[in-house]
Order: sequence, then C-alpha cells, then structure tokens
Amino acid sequence: MKKRLRHTYPGCFITFEGPEGAGKSTQIRMLADYLEHRGCVCRLTREPGGTPLAERLRTVVKNHEGPERLHATTELLLIEAARSQHVREVIRPALAAGEVVLCDRFFDSTTAYQGGARGMDSEVIGSLNELAAAECIPDLTILLDVAPEAGFARTRHRVETRGEHDRFEEEELDFHRRVRETFLAIAAREPERVRVIDAGRSAEEVHAEVRRVVDEFV
Ligand SMILES: Nc1ncnc2c1ncn2[C@@H]1O[C@H](COP(=O)(O)OP(=O)(O)O)[C@@H](O)[C@H]1O
Ligand SMILES: [Mg+2]
Repeated sequence: MKKRLRHTYPGCFITFEGPEGAGKSTQIRMLADYLEHRGCVCRLTREPGGTPLAERLRTVVKNHEGPERLHATTELLLIEAARSQHVREVIRPALAAGEVVLCDRFFDSTTAYQGGARGMDSEVIGSLNELAAAECIPDLTILLDVAPEAGFARTRHRVETRGEHDRFEEEELDFHRRVRETFLAIAAREPERVRVIDAGRSAEEVHAEVRRVVDEFV
C-alpha cells in the first residue's frame, strides 16, 4: 500500500518547490519520463497558472510593471485566485481520474514568498491556502534546496534573454534567503510530506534521489 494520507482520490499529487534555478522544471520532466515508463499517466502543471485564466493571473503577478503598484495583499489574492481555478479545473479532475499530478510550485511557495519573504500574516495565508486548495493537499512535496546565489547563477541567462522582467527574480538576496528559510521550516514542520533534496548536485544525482522518494508514493 503506497502512502496516500491526504486525499481520497485514486491519483497521486506531487509538488516541487524551491527557488528559481533549483531545477524544478528539469526534475519534473525527468520524473515524468520515469513514471510514464512505469505506465503512469502524468499531468505536468505549474503555479501560478495551469489554466488559461490562471495563466493570465500569473502574467499579472510575475510581470506587472508601470506606475500602479501591485500591493502585497493584491498579489496574495491573485495567486490564491489562480490556485482556486487550477485546483478545480485541473488538479482535482486529474486526481479523480487516477493521474499523477506533478506541479511546479504549490501552496508552500505562497507560505515562503508572500509569508516568509514578504511578511504577510502566516495565519491568513494558511486559511487562504486551505480555501484555494480545497481538499487537494499534496501527498508528497519535493523541496529542491539550493542557495539563492547558486540558483541565480543557473537562471541568469534566462533573465537576460527573455527580455521581460520578473518581479520575484528582481528581489534582493535577503528576500530569497527568507524564502529558503521558510521552505526549510515547512519541511521541518511536516517531514512526512515535505522531503528536502540537495539540489546543488548534478541533475542526474538529484533525479536518482527524487526517484527513491517518489517510489514510496507512486
Ligand atoms: N542539477 C543541476 N545542475 C546544474 N544545472 C542545472 C541542474 N538542474 C537544472 N539545471 C539548469 O539550470 C537552469 C534552471 O533549471 P530549471 O529546471 O529551469 O529550474 P527551475 O524550474 O527550478 O527554475 C536550466 O538551464 C537547467 O538546465
Ligand atoms: Mg521552472
């Protein structure tokens, strides 16, 4: 019997967390290949986003610029609104259909970025996370842990070539240190759900460890 403690759907819900450049997208692709070879149907998705409407909210949250300030409260509510759509339109139906959902960021990112780093009230965030996620709580969360400096080094070319600014990548180093600390605090609080993997190693080494953890669940 595989571990399935958090929801009653037949599928499996796995989220990936960590800073930009940690290797979330890379590891999700590698894991999907592995699981599909084993006969699983995988649903790859991301937050904020994952539905057409939620992707429009993502663009506002990540790329907003101009004279009108995007307030921290507004940012939080937009992210939770996107999550509400995503859970109801994509994640819950996929889990009900028995799929393995691999999601690039989920509610722990809100706890880390809007809570730990921006300093918004953690109880409010907890309630909003619960409201948006409904009963779709991850079975497993893989935290790809890497120092922010190392993550930046991996994504620098991306920022330079894409041409559009990213509101989070432009935050100072201290902000990203608080994000990391908060992710690690979540993992310490929920060691069963959240597994920390040292993402400073090669993609193949990280993937081998991801597999070992996922084999307990899928
Ligand atoms: N373990 C790794 N070691 C070195 N470079 C990596 C590793 N994993 C991914 N990369 C590279 O670093 C960059 C960021 O990886 P990506 O998977 O997009 O991270 P994320 O989705 O967490 O931002 C990409 O260019 C990717 O090819
Ligand atoms: Mg990515």
